[in-house]
Amino acid sequence: MSETIDLAPRKGMTAAEISAAVAKILELATLEEKVAMMSGHGFFAQMRESRGLWGANPYRAGGGCERLGVPPLYFTDGPRGVARGSSTCFPCTMARGATFDPALERRVGEVMGIEARAQGCTLSGAVCVNLLRHPAWGRAQETYGEDPYHLGEMGAALATGIQTHNVVATAKHFALNSIENARFKIDVRIDPRSLREVYLPHFRRILEAGCGSVMSAYNKMNGEHCGQNRELLTGILREEWGFEGFVHSDWVLGVYQPYGAAAGLDVENPEPVHFGAKLVAAVNSGAIEPSVIDTACRRILTTTYRFACAEDPLESYPPSLVACEAHRAVAEEVALKSAVLLKNEGVLPLKKSAVRKLAVAGRLATLENTGDNGSSRVRPPYVMTSLAGLKEFLDEGVAVFAGDESDALDAASAAARADAAVVVVGLTAAEEGEWIPGDMGGAPESGQGRRGAVGGDRDNLGLAPEQIKLIRAVAGATRRTVVVVVGGSAIMMNEWIDEVGAVLQTFYSGMEGGRALARLLFGEVSPSGRLPFTVPKAESDLPFFDKNADTIEYGPYHGYTLLEKAGTEPAFAFGYGLSYSSFGYRALKVRKAGDRLQVQVSVTNRGAVAADEVAQVYVGFPGKVVDRPKKLLRGFERLTLKPAETRTVRLEVPLDTLCWYDATTRSWKLESGAHTVYAGGSSRDRDLVRAAISL
Ligand code: BGC
Repeated sequence: MSETIDLAPRKGMTAAEISAAVAKILELATLEEKVAMMSGHGFFAQMRESRGLWGANPYRAGGGCERLGVPPLYFTDGPRGVARGSSTCFPCTMARGATFDPALERRVGEVMGIEARAQGCTLSGAVCVNLLRHPAWGRAQETYGEDPYHLGEMGAALATGIQTHNVVATAKHFALNSIENARFKIDVRIDPRSLREVYLPHFRRILEAGCGSVMSAYNKMNGEHCGQNRELLTGILREEWGFEGFVHSDWVLGVYQPYGAAAGLDVENPEPVHFGAKLVAAVNSGAIEPSVIDTACRRILTTTYRFACAEDPLESYPPSLVACEAHRAVAEEVALKSAVLLKNEGVLPLKKSAVRKLAVAGRLATLENTGDNGSSRVRPPYVMTSLAGLKEFLDEGVAVFAGDESDALDAASAAARADAAVVVVGLTAAEEGEWIPGDMGGAPESGQGRRGAVGGDRDNLGLAPEQIKLIRAVAGATRRTVVVVVGGSAIMMNEWIDEVGAVLQTFYSGMEGGRALARLLFGEVSPSGRLPFTVPKAESDLPFFDKNADTIEYGPYHGYTLLEKAGTEPAFAFGYGLSYSSFGYRALKVRKAGDRLQVQVSVTNRGAVAADEVAQVYVGFPGKVVDRPKKLLRGFERLTLKPAETRTVRLEVPLDTLCWYDATTRSWKLESGAHTVYAGGSSRDRDLVRAAISL
């Protein structure tokens, strides 16, 4: 029993060697050793030691058997960068959703993979792809947006990038986790078709791209917690999708009974509360089959070895790579490509030569505001604020701080004397973010835990009254007022938007955000982000949301599918965003080739500057057999075009992505008849050209 046997993974081991090693480990390990692999260990002690600093250590999160040489997996968050040490802080996930740029997202993932490895981590919780059903969701910033297709493409790119460096990516939170305050108790009731067509396709896409792990959600689905929900973890994940990786729970109280193991949960994190001794006892009493334990360990071990034995692209992963210049440059590139220009009445771009004085107003202009203070918090070596970025970009003395919300009148008089004004408003960790109850640890000085009433779901979908007052005062003083809006998702602007010249939504733009902001405002680069969600005109256009609900019904429609079904105009449509240039679409051609549609469309830059455009392809259905959305996004491509340049975008739409789910036969069906293919620069009717195809 105490004899040490070396079955450790070695670089270059073949699949056959790995499966032989795993079989040997399962043969030699005792029940206690196997069950020990099925949970995290040491988290609470580490949290006490680090005085509640979330991310102070790599957290042991499954696997590991010292006697046999099996290494554990070491976990780190999180979506906007590696939540350890002093890592590169990217724009938040929602900002990266607005880039509509999977190739860039893959590079972001590679940086995260490198920085995770350089800090001792082999399992990453960065891939958060819960669908944004309602903008009040406090963790909206951690996901890519409202559309399942877009979520899948972006999430698959991130997971692939992370895994390039042999860090296992975990797709979270499986599933239906999109209300924060009630996350531990809420029961999301959903029908099988909405579940598979709306809330799960992105998870499937990411897992089929090779993502090695899944984190279950805290909430319940149809009466059972997701961490022990057999339908989700076995029925759908393994039996329908054939997923071979492992599932681990979310961090605290994510599972409630040892039977979670039989339902398909392989690892309980962060500690063995319901697994551990209770699971050993359940096996010994016959309540749980020993094969359940072997199956879970096989999944954990095979995944661990597959990654540990693969060759690394880099020779080594020294700490000097963390937040190195090349990585910070990727963060700046994302910030440049993610800002969404929502309004521009000839104010932007500002001209350096014409701006001798720039009044910068708003508390957020000087705040290091990279997002919430929950598990996804990254502590970068510095944060370039909006004011700092503008000061660095402009000659000395040009950008001046005009005042914040407490002195709107002073700010307005400074703006009146300036050539243009920038007002930075929006949200912070105080208004939205992950909700970590006070008794879950966290030293106050670490900004974690014991935070009482901060974070959580949003109570107000607009701006704070004092911010609106500031905007009005400054806009009253100069027509050349640009409002920069910070926040994780949709912000209602109806009250004040008509009074200002330009609005740029930058989300939480990361450690290089201020630098990118200056380059965008002064036209060095054209804004090219596109909204990955719908901004409605009225809150009543959104689905029902209750942050304290015990039960909620999720259905087939939300976001643009809901508004389009109801025939309601949004304030800003999904996929919308202005540019310093403009683009034309023509010559849309669609043909069926085997099991896919081939779509091509010509896009021309009709403006005077080079700029990026996001070409979007939507498909509308006959809708004769069952009720369907008016149209769904089924392809997109970001392209860079010089003035007058035309490019032909070619996209393929697999026919199986056009199917609907028939719950009675438990199968996917392609509707025959006339489908409409739309292509253009946003989901708005007037931005789209269309073509019909009969299937
Ligand atoms: C969050 C997860 C996170 C985990 C570990 C949980 O509270 O919901 O997203 O990965 O903590 O930090």
